Amino acid sequence: MSEKSYKIAVVPGDGTGPEVVAEGIKVLNAAAGKSGFSLITDHFPLGGDHYLSTGETVTDETLGRLRSYDAVFLGAIGHPDVKPGVLEKDILLKLRFTLDQYINLRPVKLYDGVYTPIKDKSPEDIDFVVVRENTEGLYAGAGGCLKRGTPDEVAVQESINTRKGVERCVRFAFEYCRKRNKRKKLTLCGKTNVLTYAFDLWERTFLEVAGEYPDIETDYAHVDAICMWMVKNPEWFDVIVTDNMFGDIITDLAAMIQGGMGIAAGGNINPEGVSMFEPIGGSAPKYTGKQIINPIAAVSAGQLMLETLGEFGAAALIEAAVMKVLKEDIEDVGAGKMGKTTSEVGDLIVNYILEN
Ligand code: IPM
Ligand code: MN
Repeated sequence: MSEKSYKIAVVPGDGTGPEVVAEGIKVLNAAAGKSGFSLITDHFPLGGDHYLSTGETVTDETLGRLRSYDAVFLGAIGHPDVKPGVLEKDILLKLRFTLDQYINLRPVKLYDGVYTPIKDKSPEDIDFVVVRENTEGLYAGAGGCLKRGTPDEVAVQESINTRKGVERCVRFAFEYCRKRNKRKKLTLCGKTNVLTYAFDLWERTFLEVAGEYPDIETDYAHVDAICMWMVKNPEWFDVIVTDNMFGDIITDLAAMIQGGMGIAAGGNINPEGVSMFEPIGGSAPKYTGKQIINPIAAVSAGQLMLETLGEFGAAALIEAAVMKVLKEDIEDVGAGKMGKTTSEVGDLIVNYILEN
């Protein structure tokens, strides 16, 4: 009998992406092996180098092929020789949009042994998840400009919020909060006092869907207040749901209080389709090939991928090993401060998984 396997499309991407992805795959294979399944990986050369040599970002043919995978595992997209915006829009956002990955899931968990810049807060206080809408809002690309480059120029960028898009995101957040089964509290992050059209739709939808989840406590805070509380009282949060732009901003703040870009992982999720997992730190071009970037963000992105695929046992093995490395082996989670190379950290995690 052949064992269960998953087909994973690997997009190492630019800069330090390939280094951390290699560690992520190493760890994923170890956890899969221990749990009785395997991963079949195919590499896709998308990114800045591919764009500079071919003029191609991502073709329809590639998008079509990606749809046949169980998940996509991404390193980082971003190249110093390519104008900002091109790769972000034509690769990263295009993949999110075309594959209809309508949720951006960002767990924020401070692990033992990791430095947080917030004095007096510890792992019990920082453990929440942000559910960011990932296909609409200001990212939808609606708007335009007139008389560009003249004194009369006008630029308009509109936030698109559809009932369907908002509802599926809010519903996902309620479901996720219930399954997570921690504080069972869902906070809507908005700006109902100013963005009276968009967040009216969000708030009404949120309250309506809340009726189906009597076991979940609901709360609301404006996005500016969320930024305050996240620093002052992060323990108030369990799950936060918000739109694309606010989610982008608050998840960088959240990443910092959990230890920074060496740690933060995210999932672009289409619950009915192909999801994509990534360390959120970017390509860090100046560190390319130096083996000083922390691979834990990529490893935790792999964990999130396994959770999404329903492989909870294997995901738990990864998390336990990551926690052990953070507590016992790494001096600091920042680039160049670990006291270990990127691949040494990956090896330690693999060893802990195999010993478990
Ligand atoms: C993120 C990133 C992207 C975003 C950029 C690179 C387009 O900041 O994943 O949060 O804004 O969504
Ligand atoms: Mn961002």
